[in-house]
Amino acid sequence: MENGQESVTVPTGGRIRLVMPAAEHREAYMAFYDEWIASGEDIVPWVVGKDPSDFPAYVRFLREAEQAAPEGLVTHTTCWFMDEAGAIVGAANIRHELNRKLAESGGHIGYGVVPSRRRRGYAKSILAQSLLLTERLGIRDVLVVCDRGNTGSERTIVGNGGQFHSEFTEANGNVVRRFWIHRDM
Ligand SMILES: CC(C)(COP(=O)(O)OP(=O)(O)OC[C@H]1O[C@@H](n2cnc3c(N)ncnc32)[C@H](O)[C@@H]1OP(=O)(O)O)[C@@H](O)C(=O)NCCC(=O)NCCS
Repeated sequence: MENGQESVTVPTGGRIRLVMPAAEHREAYMAFYDEWIASGEDIVPWVVGKDPSDFPAYVRFLREAEQAAPEGLVTHTTCWFMDEAGAIVGAANIRHELNRKLAESGGHIGYGVVPSRRRRGYAKSILAQSLLLTERLGIRDVLVVCDRGNTGSERTIVGNGGQFHSEFTEANGNVVRRFWIHRDM
């Protein structure tokens, strides 16, 4: 995928565009990462929680993950989302297939928006653009999940065509709501 190939208008009138991880985005990415770390919040998707201080190595890890996975894991693609001013505001991690854990409670797509940029329609745009990518990966039925009570994420999923399927209770008692998004291909 080319950098910035898709962009979707968000309700605020601003646009965010998908950029693939690349060394040239170091400054924008570090600002995004530093803000999320400083917030003390759990980081979603999980790849954003990895230490990017050796930035070329971090980018290499992300790009290699698209091609090969260690035993028991699946290949995955990470995308960053940039606003018109060049700030990275969110990220998505797209799993190319579901293993048992992902089928139960992880889903195909994890996404997050950095705290200072929320409530602008960005998550809806991120999921919409990620769905174009799952389509290209040949994934017809896309599983997307959120924790029960995560209203922003649930509205993002339903706003992108998600149909509620079931709830799954994780070993720690956390209840995950599972939605399928069916794509015409
Ligand atoms: C959940 C999250 C992705 C939402 O991002 P966002 O950019 O603020 O979401 P949007 O502005 O696109 O809003 C999407 C919908 O959710 C609603 N919404 C967003 N945050 C909300 C909140 N805190 N409470 C209630 N509704 C909320 C919006 O009103 C909108 O609903 P509508 O289109 O039906 O009016 C963001 O809060 C986040 O990154 N949280 C931490 C990580 C996370 O939970 N990721 C999802 C993993 S499943």
